[in-house]
Amino acid sequence: MESMNVIDAIKGRASKRKFLNKSVPKETIEKILEAAAMTPSGANMQPWTVYSVSNQEMLTSIGDAIIAHIDAGGDVDQHVQYYPLNWINPYKKRRILTGAGLYKLMEVDRHDDDARQKMWFDNYRWFGAQNVFFVYVENELINGAQGPLIDCGAYMQNLMLATEGYGLGSVPQGSTTEYGKIISKVMGVPDNYSLLYSVVVGFEDKDAKINTYQPKRVKMSDTVTFID
Ligand SMILES: Cc1cc2nc3c(=O)[nH]c(=O)nc-3n(C[C@H](O)[C@H](O)[C@H](O)COP(=O)(O)O)c2cc1C
Repeated sequence: MESMNVIDAIKGRASKRKFLNKSVPKETIEKILEAAAMTPSGANMQPWTVYSVSNQEMLTSIGDAIIAHIDAGGDVDQHVQYYPLNWINPYKKRRILTGAGLYKLMEVDRHDDDARQKMWFDNYRWFGAQNVFFVYVENELINGAQGPLIDCGAYMQNLMLATEGYGLGSVPQGSTTEYGKIISKVMGVPDNYSLLYSVVVGFEDKDAKINTYQPKRVKMSDTVTFID
Protein backbone atom coordinates (compact mmCIF):
# COMPACT_ATOMS: atom_id res chain seq x y z
CA MET A 1 0.00 0.00 0.00
CA GLU A 2 2.81 2.38 0.82
CA SER A 3 3.97 2.34 -2.78
CA MET A 4 0.59 3.38 -4.21
CA ASN A 5 0.96 5.42 -7.37
CA VAL A 6 0.50 9.11 -6.62
CA ILE A 7 -1.97 9.66 -9.48
CA ASP A 8 -4.03 6.69 -8.28
CA ALA A 9 -4.03 8.15 -4.78
CA ILE A 10 -5.13 11.59 -5.99
CA LYS A 11 -7.84 10.22 -8.27
CA GLY A 12 -8.90 7.43 -5.93
CA ARG A 13 -9.43 9.61 -2.86
CA ALA A 14 -12.98 10.66 -2.13
CA SER A 15 -14.60 11.89 1.05
CA LYS A 16 -15.93 9.04 3.20
CA ARG A 17 -18.84 9.64 5.52
CA LYS A 18 -19.27 6.32 7.25
CA PHE A 19 -16.50 4.52 9.10
CA LEU A 20 -16.15 1.26 10.99
CA ASN A 21 -16.05 1.48 14.77
CA LYS A 22 -12.35 0.72 14.82
CA SER A 23 -9.38 2.81 15.84
CA VAL A 24 -6.42 3.42 13.53
CA PRO A 25 -3.22 2.08 15.15
CA LYS A 26 -1.04 4.83 16.63
CA GLU A 27 1.84 3.67 14.44
CA THR A 28 -0.18 4.34 11.28
CA ILE A 29 -1.37 7.71 12.60
CA GLU A 30 2.27 8.65 13.17
CA LYS A 31 3.25 7.50 9.67
CA ILE A 32 0.48 9.65 8.15
CA LEU A 33 1.66 12.66 10.16
CA GLU A 34 5.26 11.96 9.21
CA ALA A 35 4.35 11.96 5.51
CA ALA A 36 2.19 15.09 5.79
CA ALA A 37 5.02 16.87 7.59
CA MET A 38 6.90 16.81 4.27
CA THR A 39 4.39 19.32 2.83
CA PRO A 40 6.28 22.29 1.42
CA SER A 41 5.65 25.68 3.02
CA GLY A 42 6.91 29.20 2.44
CA ALA A 43 10.38 29.56 3.97
CA ASN A 44 9.80 26.05 5.36
CA MET A 45 7.82 27.70 8.19
CA GLN A 46 5.61 24.62 8.68
CA PRO A 47 2.76 26.73 10.03
CA TRP A 48 0.47 23.82 10.96
CA THR A 49 -0.12 22.94 14.60
CA VAL A 50 -1.93 19.64 14.85
CA TYR A 51 -4.00 17.96 17.54
CA SER A 52 -4.30 14.28 16.70
CA VAL A 53 -7.23 13.07 18.77
CA SER A 54 -7.98 9.40 19.27
CA ASN A 55 -9.33 9.75 22.80
CA GLN A 56 -12.98 8.74 22.42
CA GLU A 57 -14.17 10.72 25.44
CA MET A 58 -12.59 13.84 24.03
CA LEU A 59 -14.18 13.33 20.60
CA THR A 60 -17.57 12.74 22.21
CA SER A 61 -17.18 15.83 24.41
CA ILE A 62 -16.31 17.99 21.41
CA GLY A 63 -19.33 16.69 19.49
CA ASP A 64 -21.62 17.10 22.50
CA ALA A 65 -20.50 20.69 23.03
CA ILE A 66 -21.09 21.66 19.39
CA ILE A 67 -24.46 19.93 19.12
CA ALA A 68 -25.66 21.43 22.44
CA HIS A 69 -24.58 24.87 21.22
CA ILE A 70 -26.47 24.48 17.92
CA ASP A 71 -29.54 23.00 19.64
CA ALA A 72 -29.61 25.99 21.98
CA GLY A 73 -29.80 28.25 18.91
CA GLY A 74 -26.16 29.33 19.15
CA ASP A 75 -24.52 30.99 16.18
CA VAL A 76 -21.20 29.93 14.62
CA ASP A 77 -18.28 30.45 16.99
CA GLN A 78 -15.22 30.45 14.81
CA HIS A 79 -11.69 31.77 14.47
CA VAL A 80 -11.72 31.96 10.67
CA GLN A 81 -14.48 32.25 8.08
CA TYR A 82 -13.97 29.40 5.62
CA TYR A 83 -16.92 29.69 3.25
CA PRO A 84 -17.51 32.79 1.09
CA LEU A 85 -19.93 35.28 2.63
CA ASN A 86 -21.34 35.93 -0.81
CA TRP A 87 -21.79 32.81 -2.92
CA ILE A 88 -21.50 34.00 -6.49
CA ASN A 89 -21.93 31.78 -9.51
CA PRO A 90 -20.64 29.44 -10.86
CA TYR A 91 -19.48 28.39 -7.36
CA LYS A 92 -22.95 28.60 -5.87
CA LYS A 93 -24.30 26.30 -8.55
CA ARG A 94 -21.50 23.80 -7.92
CA ARG A 95 -22.21 23.85 -4.17
CA ILE A 96 -25.92 23.23 -4.70
CA LEU A 97 -25.33 20.45 -7.23
CA THR A 98 -22.88 18.70 -4.90
CA GLY A 99 -25.25 18.87 -1.93
CA ALA A 100 -28.25 17.82 -3.99
CA GLY A 101 -26.39 14.80 -5.36
CA LEU A 102 -25.56 13.58 -1.86
CA TYR A 103 -29.11 14.04 -0.58
CA LYS A 104 -30.51 12.29 -3.65
CA LEU A 105 -28.20 9.32 -3.18
CA MET A 106 -29.23 9.07 0.47
CA GLU A 107 -32.90 9.62 -0.38
CA VAL A 108 -33.11 12.67 1.85
CA ASP A 109 -35.56 15.35 0.77
CA ARG A 110 -33.53 18.49 0.10
CA HIS A 111 -36.31 20.56 1.67
CA ASP A 112 -36.50 18.42 4.81
CA ASP A 113 -34.42 20.60 7.14
CA ASP A 114 -34.60 18.15 10.05
CA ALA A 115 -33.32 15.23 8.00
CA ARG A 116 -30.59 17.40 6.54
CA GLN A 117 -29.53 18.62 9.96
CA LYS A 118 -29.46 15.06 11.27
CA MET A 119 -27.16 14.12 8.43
CA TRP A 120 -24.98 17.19 9.05
CA PHE A 121 -24.65 16.33 12.73
CA ASP A 122 -22.85 13.13 11.69
CA ASN A 123 -19.91 15.50 11.21
CA TYR A 124 -19.81 16.02 14.96
CA ARG A 125 -19.95 12.27 15.58
CA TRP A 126 -16.98 11.94 13.26
CA PHE A 127 -19.00 9.72 10.91
CA GLY A 128 -18.36 6.84 13.29
CA ALA A 129 -14.56 7.11 13.05
CA GLN A 130 -12.26 7.24 16.06
CA ASN A 131 -9.42 9.42 14.87
CA VAL A 132 -9.51 13.11 13.96
CA PHE A 133 -6.76 15.59 13.13
CA PHE A 134 -7.54 19.19 14.13
CA VAL A 135 -5.28 21.60 12.28
CA TYR A 136 -4.53 25.00 13.79
CA VAL A 137 -2.41 27.97 12.78
CA GLU A 138 -0.90 30.50 15.17
CA ASN A 139 -2.86 33.77 14.82
CA GLU A 140 0.16 35.98 14.29
CA LEU A 141 1.09 34.02 11.14
CA ILE A 142 -2.17 35.02 9.44
CA ASN A 143 -2.24 38.56 10.78
CA GLY A 144 -2.43 40.38 7.44
CA ALA A 145 -1.07 37.40 5.48
CA GLN A 146 -2.63 34.44 3.70
CA GLY A 147 0.43 32.34 2.83
CA PRO A 148 0.25 30.07 5.88
CA LEU A 149 -3.36 29.24 4.94
CA ILE A 150 -2.14 28.07 1.53
CA ASP A 151 0.49 25.91 3.24
CA CYS A 152 -2.08 24.42 5.63
CA GLY A 153 -4.34 23.64 2.66
CA ALA A 154 -1.55 21.66 1.03
CA TYR A 155 -0.99 19.95 4.38
CA MET A 156 -4.64 18.91 4.41
CA GLN A 157 -4.34 17.22 1.04
CA ASN A 158 -1.17 15.42 2.09
CA LEU A 159 -2.83 14.16 5.26
CA MET A 160 -5.58 12.72 3.08
CA LEU A 161 -3.27 11.27 0.42
CA ALA A 162 -1.09 9.63 3.06
CA THR A 163 -4.25 8.21 4.62
CA GLU A 164 -5.24 6.87 1.21
CA GLY A 165 -1.74 5.40 0.83
CA TYR A 166 -2.25 3.40 4.02
CA GLY A 167 -5.53 2.02 2.71
CA LEU A 168 -7.68 4.17 4.99
CA GLY A 169 -10.44 6.68 4.33
CA SER A 170 -10.81 10.34 5.22
CA VAL A 171 -13.06 13.38 5.06
CA PRO A 172 -12.02 17.00 5.49
CA GLN A 173 -14.25 19.15 7.69
CA GLY A 174 -15.11 22.81 7.52
CA SER A 175 -18.08 22.00 9.73
CA THR A 176 -15.68 22.08 12.66
CA THR A 177 -14.03 25.33 11.53
CA GLU A 178 -17.37 27.02 12.24
CA TYR A 179 -17.20 25.99 15.90
CA GLY A 180 -13.44 26.34 16.32
CA LYS A 181 -13.70 28.35 19.52
CA ILE A 182 -15.90 25.71 21.16
CA ILE A 183 -13.49 22.98 20.11
CA SER A 184 -10.52 24.92 21.50
CA LYS A 185 -12.29 25.34 24.81
CA VAL A 186 -13.00 21.62 25.13
CA MET A 187 -9.44 20.65 24.15
CA GLY A 188 -7.78 23.48 26.08
CA VAL A 189 -6.05 25.00 23.04
CA PRO A 190 -4.52 28.43 23.76
CA ASP A 191 -6.30 31.54 22.39
CA ASN A 192 -3.44 32.49 20.10
CA TYR A 193 -4.27 29.60 17.75
CA SER A 194 -7.04 29.42 15.15
CA LEU A 195 -8.70 26.20 14.07
CA LEU A 196 -8.58 25.95 10.28
CA TYR A 197 -10.16 22.53 9.72
CA SER A 198 -10.24 18.94 10.83
CA VAL A 199 -9.70 15.70 8.93
CA VAL A 200 -11.44 12.52 10.04
CA VAL A 201 -9.51 9.31 9.30
CA GLY A 202 -10.52 5.72 9.70
CA PHE A 203 -11.53 2.45 8.17
CA GLU A 204 -14.24 3.27 5.67
CA ASP A 205 -17.41 1.21 5.77
CA LYS A 206 -17.19 -0.36 2.32
CA ASP A 207 -20.86 -1.39 2.42
CA ALA A 208 -22.13 2.12 3.07
CA LYS A 209 -23.99 3.73 0.20
CA ILE A 210 -22.85 7.19 1.25
CA ASN A 211 -19.25 6.20 0.61
CA THR A 212 -19.96 5.65 -3.08
CA TYR A 213 -20.51 9.38 -3.56
CA GLN A 214 -17.90 11.15 -5.63
CA PRO A 215 -19.15 14.44 -7.03
CA LYS A 216 -17.99 15.20 -10.55
CA ARG A 217 -15.66 18.05 -11.37
CA VAL A 218 -16.31 20.74 -13.94
CA LYS A 219 -14.60 20.45 -17.29
CA MET A 220 -11.02 21.58 -17.56
CA SER A 221 -11.80 24.61 -19.72
CA ASP A 222 -13.98 25.98 -16.88
CA THR A 223 -10.99 26.32 -14.58
CA VAL A 224 -7.87 26.35 -16.74
CA THR A 225 -6.60 28.85 -19.28
CA PHE A 226 -3.83 27.54 -21.48
CA ILE A 227 -1.35 30.07 -22.76
CA ASP A 228 0.69 27.85 -25.06
C1 LIG B 1 -11.93 22.61 3.42
C2 LIG B 1 -13.00 21.57 3.22
C3 LIG B 1 -14.03 21.47 4.12
C4 LIG B 1 -15.01 20.48 3.99
N1 LIG B 1 -15.96 20.32 4.96
C5 LIG B 1 -16.78 19.24 4.94
C6 LIG B 1 -17.62 18.96 6.04
O1 LIG B 1 -17.64 19.66 7.04
N2 LIG B 1 -18.39 17.85 5.98
C7 LIG B 1 -18.40 17.02 4.90
O2 LIG B 1 -19.14 16.04 4.91
N3 LIG B 1 -17.59 17.26 3.83
C8 LIG B 1 -16.78 18.34 3.83
N4 LIG B 1 -15.90 18.57 2.80
C9 LIG B 1 -15.86 17.63 1.67
C10 LIG B 1 -16.33 18.25 0.36
O3 LIG B 1 -17.73 18.30 0.32
C11 LIG B 1 -15.76 17.37 -0.76
O4 LIG B 1 -14.35 17.42 -0.72
C12 LIG B 1 -16.22 17.78 -2.14
O5 LIG B 1 -17.61 17.68 -2.26
C13 LIG B 1 -15.55 16.91 -3.20
O6 LIG B 1 -15.80 15.55 -2.95
P1 LIG B 1 -14.66 14.49 -2.66
O7 LIG B 1 -13.87 14.95 -1.48
O8 LIG B 1 -15.41 13.22 -2.36
O9 LIG B 1 -13.82 14.38 -3.90
C14 LIG B 1 -14.96 19.59 2.89
C15 LIG B 1 -13.91 19.72 1.97
C16 LIG B 1 -12.94 20.68 2.14
C17 LIG B 1 -11.80 20.73 1.16
